[in-house]
Amino acid sequence: MVRQPIIAGNWKMYKTPSEAVEFVRRLQEASAGVDNVEIVVAPPFPALVPVAGVLAGSFIGLAAQNMFWEAEGAFTGEVSPVMLAEIGCRYVILGHSERRQYFGETDANVNRKAWAALDRGLVPIVCVGESLDEREAGRTEKVVTAQIQGCLAGLPADAVAGLVIAYEPVWAIGTGRTASPADAQEVSARIRALVAELFGREAADRVRIQYGGSVKPENTRALISQPDIDGALVGGASLKVESFAGIIRETG
Ligand code: G3H
Repeated sequence: MVRQPIIAGNWKMYKTPSEAVEFVRRLQEASAGVDNVEIVVAPPFPALVPVAGVLAGSFIGLAAQNMFWEAEGAFTGEVSPVMLAEIGCRYVILGHSERRQYFGETDANVNRKAWAALDRGLVPIVCVGESLDEREAGRTEKVVTAQIQGCLAGLPADAVAGLVIAYEPVWAIGTGRTASPADAQEVSARIRALVAELFGREAADRVRIQYGGSVKPENTRALISQPDIDGALVGGASLKVESFAGIIRETG
């Protein structure tokens, strides 16, 4: 099964709308000609509309960093999947560890959001990963298994096949400490095997699994060349055109 690699830049709470627009204009030039890699950017909410305007018809896709599961209603401060779909988002990041840590996101919430996203034609990028304490206690597989089971509970197999799962060990996020390619591969293979158990072989063969955690151009190739790693969810290195385009080129 050939899975197209997907490199997504999660900008977190960085870049104003004007900075974001300038960035994607430059990224289009810097990554032109790399045609075997899917490229996605996830700006903060205020930048989504102007960036969508620049990216209309472009080879670069747009993602939101979060959403609520309801279509509309009295939910102050929230953004719905209907709104994201209308402005041209194709993906939505769900369950990032920062949302779990700072905003109380749970696997059950991610599951509700995943259903709602799929219902509106958005593709969830579902984030899972263990903390340092959990890894050192030998609980990585148990933690990630529970997250996958909870986040994907009850989803149809064909929807799971189209998902992106981002394996992001929390201890590697923003720390400069990357999981070794072998460790990242081991967990990614376990995730794929679990998807096969829960949703069947075809879903497992088709679902794309990204690695995230201090990815940069220098370590991209070793990670991406692992058989069960199909791309990267990039934080810090996605904020500069040079490093993000470098990661894209190393993937292609
Ligand atoms: O969503 C992206 C991840 O949190 C990785 O962030 O590349 O800065 O470690 P990082």
